[in-house]
Formats: sequence, structure tokens, C-alpha cells
Amino acid sequence: MEAVTRVGQVGLGYWGKNLVRNFDDLARLTWLCDAEEANRTEFARRYPTARVTDSFEQVLADDEVDAIVIATPVPTHYPLTKQALEAGKHVFVEKPPAMRASEMEELVALAEERNLVLMPGHLLLYHPGVRKLKELVDSSELGDVLCIYGNRQNLGKIRKDENALWSLGVHDLSIILWLVDEEPSEVWAHGNAFLTPGVEDVVFCYLRFPSGKIAHMHLSWLDPHKMRKITVVGRDRMVVFDDMELERKVTVYEKAPWEPAGTYGEWRTRTGDIFSPKIPNDEPLRLECEHFLHLVRVGPTHVEARDGLAVVRTLEQLQDSLAAVRA
Ligand SMILES: NC(=O)c1ccc[n+]([C@@H]2O[C@H](COP(=O)([O-])OP(=O)(O)OC[C@H]3O[C@@H](n4cnc5c(N)ncnc54)[C@H](O)[C@@H]3O)[C@@H](O)[C@H]2O)c1
Repeated sequence: MEAVTRVGQVGLGYWGKNLVRNFDDLARLTWLCDAEEANRTEFARRYPTARVTDSFEQVLADDEVDAIVIATPVPTHYPLTKQALEAGKHVFVEKPPAMRASEMEELVALAEERNLVLMPGHLLLYHPGVRKLKELVDSSELGDVLCIYGNRQNLGKIRKDENALWSLGVHDLSIILWLVDEEPSEVWAHGNAFLTPGVEDVVFCYLRFPSGKIAHMHLSWLDPHKMRKITVVGRDRMVVFDDMELERKVTVYEKAPWEPAGTYGEWRTRTGDIFSPKIPNDEPLRLECEHFLHLVRVGPTHVEARDGLAVVRTLEQLQDSLAAVRA
């Protein structure tokens, strides 16, 4: 019989509790760690078979722990992940695992050197709707992809410690880079901090890839529309992933430009069917946790860690561009 993976989790806040719920179902929760006493008390009551502590070192010192799950605030991700990898543990860490590309490079190198899983929590890559998007792009159904744009807007939740680029953009960026399978050769970001000095509430990003594909992201918590949407424009078809839709998460549009034979440069447009493929209702977080445990069992591919590095590298470049415009 296959051994059950023993998991220690640090960070039992708003998001951490969702991870605990899944890892309790899928693995053996051995340790729960949080700096706040109230959280420790509550989780000790809810998960009586796990040991509870405020000391991350105590969790790492336990040879029986195979894997660590990190759901603490972003600035703590890099030091905690580094410590866990150095202690020989596989790591699932919430996004982004580091705030600087040099730090993320160090983490990826450490995971590769020690043959450990390092998986950033890019939740939306496990969303069945986003998986469908990837399938459509890779199967050439859309023809050459020309451009992609993401809308992640709402009124709230207004953050004071990270800007809209880092808080919201990490989701769309992970999807866009995964779909195009390239890193951008040029990036621009413009935005402004209206509410908290130095923390941009509204950010517009432009990315251009070596293949000529272009992408755009509108990220904002000051907006009348609640939008969670990715649009992919292909030469033959166009597709929209809309996470606000209950049933029609993915819509394919038979819309494209075409050039009638014998005419040169006289472009016309073609409009055909519009259809929505069936998307399974599986919980993305559960699929994400299952994937992590699968990697722990079969051994790391390092693909997830390298994809995470591309995301952090691009975020850093976009942040530099934002800061340059601000300066
Ligand atoms: N994938 C998603 O869709 C998604 C959604 C929300 C949050 N997140 C991510 O989850 C992470 C946590 O966010 P949150 O909203 O749950 O934050 P939170 O503030 O609610 O929870 C963080 C918890 O970590 C604990 N903590 C902080 N430093 C610690 C340390 N050194 N040792 C032990 N405990 C420590 C705090 O006491 C707190 O309970 C962030 O990285 C965030 O980006 C991801």
C-alpha cells in the first residue's frame, strides 16, 4: 500500500484554512503552525490528530514530516520556503513564493539540487476552465494566438500592503505565461496609488513576446465591474474564460478575419457559431492539492517551480516599469 504523505502546514489564516481542509482529506495532517494563539486554539479543536505549535523549526525538525504547506503573508514566503527546502522537505507555497527573481532562482536551484518538489500555489492553473483554454490553444483550434488580455477588476478588496499588480496580477500572469509558453521580451506597466501612498490600486500592463504575441492586463480594486476574465484572440477563433459565469465558463467564438482569394490586403471578417464546451465542476483548490501530493509521490519535475520563476521574474520587471513611471 502507498504511504500517506505527512504534511505540516504553516499559516492558518483566511486562505490557510481552505488548504488545511483539503490536506486533511487527501493526506495526513501532522503539524499545524501559526503565530496567533487564537488560530492555534481553534485548529487544535478542529483537527485533534494534528500537533499544533507556533514554532516552524519544531515542524521542520520532525523527520516524519514529508511536505510543508506555506500559507503565510507574501514577504515570509521566501525565508520559510528556503528553510523548509534546506530541511529536506517538499514545499507547496502560496503565490508568489518570492518577491524578487534572484530569491526565486535560489529556491528553484535548491529544490533541483535536493530533488524536492517546490510548487507555487498558482490556483487558476488547476481551474478546469483554464485547462480547457490551454487545451484549445495547444490543439491549434484557435489558429495562431495573436493576443491575450485579462480583466481582474472589482470594487475592493482594498489592500494596503501589496499593490494590484502583486495581489491580482499574479493570477492572470500565471495563466498568460502558461498559455503562450514564452517569457515576454518587453513589458510596460502604468498605474497609480490613489488611496494608500505607494500602493497602486489600478494597474494596466502590456507584455510583448518574442513570437510577436501581445498581452494586456487590467488590474484594479477601484472598478464598478466585477470581472474575472481572460480573452484569447486567435487567427481562426476567439475564446473567453469568464469565471463570473456559473455555467458558461468558456465560450468559443467562430469569429476571425479572412482575406478573399485574389484580393491582397483586403481583409473581411467571418462570424459563425458561438458555443460553450462543458467544463467539469471540480474544485480548483482540490485539484491543486492533489497535484502537489502526486508530485511528492512520484518525484519532482521542477516544471511548476520554473513556471513560478517566470511569473516572479515578469512581476519584478512590471514592478520596475511601474516604479520608473512613478519616479
Ligand atoms: N490562491 C488564492 O486564490 C489565494 C487567495 C487568498 C490568499 N492567498 C495567499 O495565501 C497567503 C495567506 O493569505 P491570507 O489571506 O490567508 O493571510 P492571513 O493574514 O489571513 O493569514 C496568514 C496567517 O499566517 C500567520 N503567520 C504569519 N507569519 C507567520 C510565521 N512566520 N509563522 C507562523 N505563522 C505565521 C498569521 O498569524 C496568519 O494567521 C498569501 O500568500 C496570499 O497571497 C491565495
